[in-house]
Amino acid sequence: MKLLPATEKITEIDADAVVLGIYADGQPTAHAAQFDQVTDGLLGRLLEAKEITGKTNKLVPLLAVAGVRAQLVLVVGLGEKEKLTRGSAYRVAATAARRLSLKQRQRVAMYFDDAWSDETFQAAAAGVITGCQGQDLYRTEKKRHPFGEVLLAGAAAEELSQGQIVGEAVNLARQLVNEPAAQIYPESFARQAQEVADACQLECEIWDQARLEAENCGALLAVARGSVRPARLVILRYQGAGADQRPLALVGKGVTFDSGGLSLKPSDGMLAMKCDMAGAAAVLAALQAIARLQLPVNVVAIMGLVENMVSGDSYKLGDVLTARSGKTIEIHNTDAEGRVVLADALNVAVEQGATKIIDLATLTGACCVALGNDVVGAMANDQAWCDAVTGAAQNVGEPIWQLPMFPEYGQQIKSQIADIKNVGEGRWGGAITAAKFLEEFVDDTPWVHLDIAGPSFLEKAKPWMDGGGTGVMVRTLIEVARTLK
Ligand code: BES
Ligand code: ZN
Ligand code: ZN
Repeated sequence: MKLLPATEKITEIDADAVVLGIYADGQPTAHAAQFDQVTDGLLGRLLEAKEITGKTNKLVPLLAVAGVRAQLVLVVGLGEKEKLTRGSAYRVAATAARRLSLKQRQRVAMYFDDAWSDETFQAAAAGVITGCQGQDLYRTEKKRHPFGEVLLAGAAAEELSQGQIVGEAVNLARQLVNEPAAQIYPESFARQAQEVADACQLECEIWDQARLEAENCGALLAVARGSVRPARLVILRYQGAGADQRPLALVGKGVTFDSGGLSLKPSDGMLAMKCDMAGAAAVLAALQAIARLQLPVNVVAIMGLVENMVSGDSYKLGDVLTARSGKTIEIHNTDAEGRVVLADALNVAVEQGATKIIDLATLTGACCVALGNDVVGAMANDQAWCDAVTGAAQNVGEPIWQLPMFPEYGQQIKSQIADIKNVGEGRWGGAITAAKFLEEFVDDTPWVHLDIAGPSFLEKAKPWMDGGGTGVMVRTLIEVARTLK
């Protein structure tokens, strides 16, 4: 899909459809004013009659408007002018694009507000890219049709191309999540990472079974043992700053399917578990964008890739594993496998000399209980670093909320036989006891854990996004890299 600045007026442009943004408080944009001039005050009348309200993401299609060349004008509500953010611009543009992409259209032009900042236009461009990408990978008749080209009035070409890079990264993460576990398993995920690395000139290291054994990744390997699919650990390196600068580390949980293992999940709870590699997908996608944007930072990405399955060789309850760091882990529940995989992946991040770490994981159902399905849980060992990450999330409009990490929670993961056990006492505070477990493997490195179990996968579509994988936190990670100090 091509994104270009629009130079013609909304009424004159030759397009299959035009989008016109309207604020809720009645302040017309320059485009709305020009539109009203040509159409004898049509918008004004529709606003007066409350057929159009300008409420956020509300869509009103107008057909064959006299004086307008395009046969479809899609009016989209921008909400109140003072409340417009990069996040709401992303969603508004995506909402409009999503509706228009229901059928094939060659040329679509969008007229929001020329007074928007460069960053806001960038966000809108990203929204256009994700809005018209669906989850119907295997549907014979597609429900979404990306446009041939999209023209955005008031935007600079540079902002559009950067926004496109961001949107395409979000789509990459979504696609990896949406692909069934038969398609995306540790080896094939690693191949995808290698392809991204080749295309973006990233350094790529893939640890296979033998290497993982040589590296003493006893935790990750134990989880993988129940599957016929061998484990992989992928390390990608992007160097945008001096070779002497230690990197930011992004660590992703890549459980390509989580059956629960011997602590088997009930069928309903297993259905969406192809999404259990959304953390690794977000990390890979973010690195792709960071490289394409040529950001002046060094980043290392580490993805722990396994399938959690049931077999005669599955790891068992009561097993004691020795993690790469040397710590021993008693297994009380094989369905708490993500933290076990991350134990080794985080240790690799520390060894890579990371100055700061962010891990992303579809880690606990408890986080969904605490925060619902739309909010990411953040847990950290360093408040300043946590503030930087949540600040970046706020900049791009991805909802995130910090949970406490009081030392008392750590009592719950003490084991009688080993250094720690892999679940807390009972279900309560489960998102935090999981984070306490992870904290054991980051030493003193400033670290933020993002539990994306809820927001990584939509059961039901939002106005701005189809159901399925969401690519949550990809935009935040890119923003973190952009604002890194
Ligand atoms: N992958 C799941 C968490 C999950 C739940 C992700 C729902 C996405 C949606 C994780 O491995 C898991 O099963 N966690 C257990 C931990 C428990 C056994 C301590 C959970 O949350 O029930
Ligand atoms: Zn699990
Ligand atoms: Zn899992």
